[in-house]
Amino acid sequence: MYDEIDLNQINIDAAPPMEEPARQYYFMAKCREWVRDFEQKNCHAPKACVVNMGCQMNARDSEKLTGILKLIGYETAEEENADFVIFNTCTVRDNANQKVYGRLGVMKGLKKKNPSMKIALCGCMMQENAAIEKIRTSYPFVDLIFGTHNIFKFAELLYASFETEGMLIDIWEDTDKIVENLPVERKYPFKSGINIMFGCNNFCSYCIVPYVRGRERSRNPKDILMEIEKLAAEGVVEIMLLGQNVNSYGKTLKEPMRFAQLLQEVEKIEGIERIRFMTSHPKDLSEELIQVMKASKKICRHLHLPLQAGSDRILKAMNRVYTKEQYIALAKHIREEIPDIALTTDLIVGFPGETLSDVEETISVVKEVEYDNAFTFVYSKRTGTPAAAMEEQVPEEVVKEGFQKLLETVQATAKKRVARYEGQVMEALVEEVNEHDASLLTGRLSNNTLVHFSGSSSLIGKIIKVRLDKCCGFYYMGTAL
Ligand code: SAH
Ligand code: SF4
Ligand code: F3S
Repeated sequence: MYDEIDLNQINIDAAPPMEEPARQYYFMAKCREWVRDFEQKNCHAPKACVVNMGCQMNARDSEKLTGILKLIGYETAEEENADFVIFNTCTVRDNANQKVYGRLGVMKGLKKKNPSMKIALCGCMMQENAAIEKIRTSYPFVDLIFGTHNIFKFAELLYASFETEGMLIDIWEDTDKIVENLPVERKYPFKSGINIMFGCNNFCSYCIVPYVRGRERSRNPKDILMEIEKLAAEGVVEIMLLGQNVNSYGKTLKEPMRFAQLLQEVEKIEGIERIRFMTSHPKDLSEELIQVMKASKKICRHLHLPLQAGSDRILKAMNRVYTKEQYIALAKHIREEIPDIALTTDLIVGFPGETLSDVEETISVVKEVEYDNAFTFVYSKRTGTPAAAMEEQVPEEVVKEGFQKLLETVQATAKKRVARYEGQVMEALVEEVNEHDASLLTGRLSNNTLVHFSGSSSLIGKIIKVRLDKCCGFYYMGTAL
């Protein structure tokens, strides 16, 4: 693994190796020379800020970028007023793109004050030609742009950008490559995400992810298990297996493996106390998986099962490949088998052609399933997706009305569901000092509900017993025991 690689042993005067990841370590060694020069001139190490703007998968990619930056000698900074700033972008909805442009507007001012500052952009939004064009014309002060498929080349691209005047752009259309054993710097010492697969083959008609993340590729189970064993040895107690559709894990491997089998292997790893995963597509959720979850001592009592919409007509147009009845039957079956499980979901309002009576169908599923939490999104038109070409885009007022009604139902049902443990004692993994009140700590229950309670920050990273005193909607106030 990477920490056994010594950059001092690399001959940076030789030609770069062709194989990966050796090639990237060669460029990390080259970048380190550059960083040393910077230190000599400026009497301090350069500071780098990695800004994550996307989902858990992007967050994991950001940890990989941070790992490389640290290895080459950068100090990490929270503020964007640093020597190197990289935005790891998202493009799932248009507001994600607008946020990037907003941040770039601020960066323009910062770079004026500090012209030697370097600014980079990567991630999903960079896989869109229109975004690249806009950045090229409106934000010419950006130094480096790369995408999701060549993120493993970060060290090489960073070195190239040190050597280049102006904007360097490297975007790949697709890849079948998975480069293992690059550095990672975890945000939390006690929990970690782990990619088990990349890309998506589902092509839900509204969604841009398959276009910007490419085709589904699973990592070899051996690499995944080795990574988790290493994390356990470093003190990680909770892991989250990441993929756009974890239920189809392993189908494209030379020696196919089912997700439920992988989970059973992960369960055996000593030191790992909690296993989570994200995301499950209802169409691929197997009985085997339900039974493995039921029998497991480590898999958390939480399943995120995106519904998206409740009307069969809309589900069909979305290409979700299940009906309302099938979804409800699945959810009920899971609840029967694992009564203490928390179900959460994603919902979209305003898909082309959706009427208020369609939204009523979504509301009826929410009432029937009683989710513990639901993320509700307003449909956002994504260029290049089939839904963007559909006529009958829904007027804003209709979307607003449906959205408001749905949100009210979600909040009411969630409160009822979450509150059912009031007064009970449960185990929580203490994650951090509360963001809004520094006298409190925040812990996470197995079912993913947060609980806030007072206690010493030395408890962070530990699994402790907490009494759930009062339910406040989606979270609890509690007492550490
Ligand atoms: N692979 C995951 C979801 C990834 S995107 C899954 O299928 O569950 C996260 C969520 O964003 C989706 O579940 C969906 O609810 C929402 N989403 C995706 N594209 C969207 C769009 N064009 N407009 C609004 N919401 C969208
Ligand atoms: Fe998008 Fe559907 Fe793939 Fe999820 S499963 S990433 S919603 S295409
Ligand atoms: Fe994630 Fe956004 Fe990309 S949701 S996969 S970062 S488009």
